[in-house]
Amino acid sequence: MQLDVVTLFPEWFDWFRGQRHVGNALARGHELRTLNPREHTPLSGGQVDDTPFGGGAGMVLRVDVMDAALRGFYGMDPVDLRHQRRVLALTPGGRILDDGFVEELAAEPAITLLCGRYEGFDERIVQHFASDPVSVGRYVLSGGELAAMVVMDAVLRKLPGSLGHANSAVEESFSAALGGDPEYPHYTRPAEYRGWKVPEVLLSGHHEEIRQWRRARSRERGAAGGASSSLP
Ligand code: 6GU
Repeated sequence: MQLDVVTLFPEWFDWFRGQRHVGNALARGHELRTLNPREHTPLSGGQVDDTPFGGGAGMVLRVDVMDAALRGFYGMDPVDLRHQRRVLALTPGGRILDDGFVEELAAEPAITLLCGRYEGFDERIVQHFASDPVSVGRYVLSGGELAAMVVMDAVLRKLPGSLGHANSAVEESFSAALGGDPEYPHYTRPAEYRGWKVPEVLLSGHHEEIRQWRRARSRERGAAGGASSSLP
């Protein structure tokens, strides 16, 4: 898969590239490129953003700047680009990322992620250059960069060969194998610590009972609606 990130802060992605699972994916032939609109801006002094029409705080990434950046990089009109590859605009008002959406993206050969900064994008960028507006949750980040890393992390781990264990991504939280429920709780040694015991069934060696116990805990967590621990 080819992942392109359009960002005013390409150096943030150097750290991301250095993470083992990302590095492994890149070594297997996947690609992560960054493109800085500041290097393509037609405006003087490297200008990329401007004050919002109608007033208000902050700065907005300009549509003409994004047009020039995408056109310069891909050699085509960005209005056509989004018909050739998924172009995600990272914006808090977008479609909320979930496991199904991640699966959808993981099946794509190439994705471009547009990161807004400051107060975000001129809305015409989202309307005309993006195929999908994407959000990673109902809260506001100061830019799309961390959201882009969230999307790419979730997508990369779905790709074949990305996890040490072939099954790790199949039976994980929110997957179809778990009926969309969160994952069951895990335990490791010691079997008892400060009087806190690991559930007996997990030490029993009865694979079917273990499977049923895990399915039941997973369902409970699903029913609890995202609560991650069942406190006594
Ligand atoms: Cl994609 N961007 C920003 N700036 N904030 C967010 C977000 C994206 N998703 C949730 N909050």
